Amino acid sequence: MTTETIHYECKTVAELASMPPEYRAAVEKIVVSHAVNELAGAQAFDEPAIALAPTPYAKYLTCRVAMEEYHHHVRFRQLAEEMGVDPARMETRSRKPLSIFGFPLRTWEEFCVIKLLADYAEILQVEDLLQCSFHPLRNLGRVTMPEEKFHAQFGRDFCGELCRTEDGRARVQAAIDAYYPQLPAFFGSSRSKNNEAFRRFELKRRTNDEMRADFVARAQRLVEGELGLKLPAVSLTYEHAA
Ligand SMILES: [Fe+2]
Ligand SMILES: [Fe+2]
Repeated sequence: MTTETIHYECKTVAELASMPPEYRAAVEKIVVSHAVNELAGAQAFDEPAIALAPTPYAKYLTCRVAMEEYHHHVRFRQLAEEMGVDPARMETRSRKPLSIFGFPLRTWEEFCVIKLLADYAEILQVEDLLQCSFHPLRNLGRVTMPEEKFHAQFGRDFCGELCRTEDGRARVQAAIDAYYPQLPAFFGSSRSKNNEAFRRFELKRRTNDEMRADFVARAQRLVEGELGLKLPAVSLTYEHAA
């Protein structure tokens, strides 16, 4: 899918006010979506996982992850509020959360797999922000990235540790089988009008399908190459809005 791009550079929130309405609307959608999803993830997974963590050290690290995920929400929300977005748009109860946050978290292994894979998916989204034509979002991407990398590394380290026993390997594999098939939808529909607008304004660089294919390839290297487990087969296209 080729989309003609319009080259905009918008360096500050103040400058945004003089940008075309379509550009402003597209920026708002991205900022609100990050604010809502960071909050939904922190509420559904990171905060409840503190109770599931098996040792004081694991609890300490999980607290740090939960704190950072709430902070991500706060940062995106602050940017949205500076832009004049109605705060009600950032409430998770006013929006249906993405399907990946509807997963009923029950075990520590599931949480470790969520960090291993969902935060890896988030890293791909944040990578795209680093070149965003709206500079305040670029800057948020820069401060968020090291923390998302820490979350994915947390998942890798704890999954690696669990995989040292046969029982642990089986439990991590079961969590991957249950959770991973929901992740391709996280990248949005193959024919997304939003994504087309985001690319036209150089707010994002890649199509949803390109990101999805990149994620699946990277997840394969991680799960099959590093952990020696199996990834369920998934479709590289997705036809409904995520
Ligand atoms: Fe986050
Ligand atoms: Fe994260």
